[in-house]
Amino acid sequence: MSIRLGDTAPDFTAESTAGTISFHDYLGDSWGVLFSHPADFTPVCTTELGTVAALKDEWEKRNVKVVGLSVDSLEDHNAWAGDIKDVTGCALNFPLLADPDRAVANAYGMIHPNADATFTVRSVFVIGPDKKVKLTLTYPAATGRNFDELLRVIDSLQRTSQHKVATPANWNPGDDVIIVPSLSDEEAGKLFPGFEKIKPYLRKTSDPA
Ligand code: BEZ
Repeated sequence: MSIRLGDTAPDFTAESTAGTISFHDYLGDSWGVLFSHPADFTPVCTTELGTVAALKDEWEKRNVKVVGLSVDSLEDHNAWAGDIKDVTGCALNFPLLADPDRAVANAYGMIHPNADATFTVRSVFVIGPDKKVKLTLTYPAATGRNFDELLRVIDSLQRTSQHKVATPANWNPGDDVIIVPSLSDEEAGKLFPGFEKIKPYLRKTSDPA
């Protein structure tokens, strides 16, 4: 079954490179990113995991806990970790789940049998502090993800969860945001004095962050 936006992220307990993880307890009040990669000892995955590790300060700044996963064993994860450090200069600094029985992969629909019967695709789930799924992404095995884009989306998710705003196409932090259409002009004026009215349904204001 596929996971849809607004669903509660399935909870699980699994072994990881950082010990046993009970997912919901591990996340606590943080935001979460759960992402799968196809397999250990593969080139694109090696670059991805090093990139995620290099972004440690960025995840922390946003109160995000990142957890990776593949269907490989814990033994393989630990053996591969040295390669990730060698190749990217960044040691694993987030838990990598071992999921050899595919329990987590199946719960999250990370195996797409028509793409590959065995390995997980490159799935991403962003989970809010309420444990609800806020974003899903699926990339094929041969395309490494852009984790800067993931940070950008998390910035948008966090803005839009804290303020009555949405973010326009190609938005980046610091750019103007859109006032949600459900607010009247009067309400908008109280919350966002001096907002710009481009159309009755398109009103912009400065980034509230
Ligand atoms: C990779 O990580 O390089 C990879 C994994 C599975 C299929 C293709 C590429």
